[in-house]
Amino acid sequence: MSTAVPVLSPSAHGGPGRPARARRSGPLRGRVRAPGDKSMSHRALIFGLLAVGETRIEGLLEGEDVLATARACRALGAEIERLGEGRWRVRGVGVGGLKRPAETLDFGNAGTGSRLMMGVVGGHPITATFDGDASLRSRPMRRILDPLALMGASVLSSAEGGRLPLTLQGPERTLPIAYETPVPSAQVKSAVLLAGLNAPGATTVIEREATRDHTEKMLRAFGADVTVEPFGAHGRTIRLVGQPELRPASLSIPADPSSAAFPLVAALIAAGSEVTLDSVMTNPLRTGLLTTLKEMGADVTLTNIREEGGEEISDLVVRAGPLVGVDVPPERAPSMIDEYPVLAVAAAFAEGETRMRGLHELRVKESDRLAAVHDGLVRSGVEARIEGDDLIVVGRGGAPGGGAPVKTHLDHRIAMSFLVLGLGAEAPVAIDDGAMIATSFPAFGPLMRGLGADIDMGDAA
Ligand code: S3P
Repeated sequence: MSTAVPVLSPSAHGGPGRPARARRSGPLRGRVRAPGDKSMSHRALIFGLLAVGETRIEGLLEGEDVLATARACRALGAEIERLGEGRWRVRGVGVGGLKRPAETLDFGNAGTGSRLMMGVVGGHPITATFDGDASLRSRPMRRILDPLALMGASVLSSAEGGRLPLTLQGPERTLPIAYETPVPSAQVKSAVLLAGLNAPGATTVIEREATRDHTEKMLRAFGADVTVEPFGAHGRTIRLVGQPELRPASLSIPADPSSAAFPLVAALIAAGSEVTLDSVMTNPLRTGLLTTLKEMGADVTLTNIREEGGEEISDLVVRAGPLVGVDVPPERAPSMIDEYPVLAVAAAFAEGETRMRGLHELRVKESDRLAAVHDGLVRSGVEARIEGDDLIVVGRGGAPGGGAPVKTHLDHRIAMSFLVLGLGAEAPVAIDDGAMIATSFPAFGPLMRGLGADIDMGDAA
């Protein structure tokens, strides 16, 4: 018997939504490779722009977010060519060699691309206008603009509260600074370091909680002098010597753990599943979800652990099985900041209460993810509540009801998380808009269907 799936009307951003839906499926079986890591893909293009000569990239994520960064790099002077699937060539202009872009840099939905590029522009004597979609226009940019102002950059115009669209002017002479980030954010850290590339002397960033370190690692691969020391119990001090001549690099980008998280959780909750996720980056600053799922009793094995291009990579073998609720400490947040929506889905299938602590940063992601996850869970018949910055999900050790439409608020990870929930729920789950999934995981639909998932992406792949 087929169940009618209610579908929401056009999504909140005003454009027509592209509804998608998922039905109970399984067992999921097979071996798949999630797309290239988004954080590394943005950085590979940007550092390619800032190096003199030809950088080669394999495994680049060809999602809309990264393509927006590629367009911006071109506008700033790079020659960029796609050689084949995931294979790209960047001919850079070098630190100090950027040209003033003729057009507005439109970053679409991409927070990382726009914020890192503000660091680049804010450290160079050029002016550029940044814009994006309704989600990006709503996100805070002061956290980037404040340290850039200390380095000499000025905001010529902006929407209210320093939001996009905004025009940023870099100084004639960039000042090196020592800056302690007020929130744990790899984007803030990276923007300061990128501006510091064009400052004489040392730029230092202090973070009280260590965040993903791809900028530091990749800058070294491009020949920069970067040193990292521990700071306090969980933090780091990063020191960069400015005005290097970056040399081009040859980079291979592993699968994105934040994207692999969706087939991973799907395999845990769809009865009888066994899935292998190929070549997933297991950098310890990105593996908070794996730690948490293992505490919940998940059957996940890391095999074939190796190092490639300075990053640890593993194949993950995932088998479905019972999960129990756990308490997730706040200090784990930076290492799994993008994975809370799908962790909340796993928690909905677990036995008992999962408390995820200290999620204030989730309120300023592509959507207010704390509210969006809570709302989607409640609509799906899951007991969930927000207490301060904590999200509490009470699982019943079985399938949640599903059946009600879920709002995605222009947020790819909310969209994929609730499609995953639909794969195990009693009734199908529809989302109002799956179009944004193309920002980070363009082949999500076909990849999941290849494992046996019953997912209908509407007009999308
Ligand atoms: C990212 C940093 C994180 C993360 C984002 C990617 C990066 O954002 O949520 O998806 O590549 O630096 P914050 O810096 O805002 O924590």
